[in-house]
Amino acid sequence: MKPINVGLLGIGTVGGGTFTVLKRNEEEITRRAGRPIRITTVADKNLELARKVAGEGVRLTDDAFSVVTDPEIDIVVELIGGYGVARELVLKAIENGKHVVTANKALLAVHGNEIFSAAQKKGVMVAFEAAVAGGIPIIKALREGLTANRIQWLAGIINGTTNFILSEMRDKGLPFADVLKEAQALGYAEADPTFDIEGVDAAHKATIMSAIAFGIPMQFDKAYVEGITKLESADIEYAEQLGYRIKLLGIARKREAGVELRVHPTLIPTKRLIANVEGAMNAVLVQADAVGATLYYGKGAGAEPTASAVIADLVDITRLHTADPEHRVPHLAFQPDQVQDIAVLPIDEVETSYYLRMRVEDKPGVLADITRILADSEISIDAMIQKEPAEGEAQTDIIMLTHLTVERNANAAIARIESLPVVQGKVKRIRLENL
Ligand code: HSE
Repeated sequence: MKPINVGLLGIGTVGGGTFTVLKRNEEEITRRAGRPIRITTVADKNLELARKVAGEGVRLTDDAFSVVTDPEIDIVVELIGGYGVARELVLKAIENGKHVVTANKALLAVHGNEIFSAAQKKGVMVAFEAAVAGGIPIIKALREGLTANRIQWLAGIINGTTNFILSEMRDKGLPFADVLKEAQALGYAEADPTFDIEGVDAAHKATIMSAIAFGIPMQFDKAYVEGITKLESADIEYAEQLGYRIKLLGIARKREAGVELRVHPTLIPTKRLIANVEGAMNAVLVQADAVGATLYYGKGAGAEPTASAVIADLVDITRLHTADPEHRVPHLAFQPDQVQDIAVLPIDEVETSYYLRMRVEDKPGVLADITRILADSEISIDAMIQKEPAEGEAQTDIIMLTHLTVERNANAAIARIESLPVVQGKVKRIRLENL
């Protein structure tokens, strides 16, 4: 059988993994795909590295545009990353009738609507399993496996770097800055880890999942994004004492009024399976009306796990590229004319529970003042701890967990608590989800 020809743009870690796995499992993959999958061309700035990884018999070029316009190429795999040249190359590939496989979550979260619309018009596939949670087939699950369901919400640990940092902070009681340095030394965190630790990477992935879960456009610009840089070890410790673990979650929830799309540190009950996802591992919990809760767990990054997702997309395209475009699985799971423009709710309108830590003077009436404010705001307290003041100190910490309330309401109550003369400084607030 005539092989399907693939052009690879960018031969870093994932590109290398894709070569290795395609070669090692060539026979099995061909049996599944129905014909051989061959990477015939690689574009990379570093031709020496490209030759080392790709071996002989593969055409190398430092001109990626020559690959996306090459009539011999059937599928373009984009592993360059970023929003700039990657966007131009993907659009050019589509214009030239190529199918595209990409691991680029930033590109899809920000320019996905434009890219899918172009692909739709041209009748080509854009596959992106590797863009979310690396090797976990979560895109396949949301788009195909759960297709009978109304998906109600999903919550994911979708950034391995931050999950590693949070696990280390908890295990070793170390501050964020120290663990970040350790993560960089071990190669988990990038030299510039901003996208990971500020929650941007997780928000890209949550945006993509929200689109295919609910049949809505990509709305990354509306996502609420809060990272882990301000998290203190004391809060991780208090959360543990209350039976909770703090994770950076990407959450998408469909509500009557719109969609919640948010990334932030979140307390979750330690007894939940997802709370026990440690180190650099990823997991996504999906709640849907027919099946109930399903949990997807695995490696969210790395050469071979991500290559596993890239190759799964290559096999899908190989099987389907001769099919009538209307008979293929739609890019965003729903038929293109059925994608609904449902608004992402502002963070003020999000409904969640809270962990509140306040530093207060240890004297009569303080707790009563605080609980009065919460009662006035109709915020119900779920649990509470008050520490004995340390020897010689007149102040102590009060930690409260609340039931569900709307964020605007919680903010107003927090502002009133902060204005009490017996409360020192700001109230530390972390959102809580029972999942
Ligand atoms: N930087 C990501 C992470 C992996 O730490 O999970 C690639 O998406």
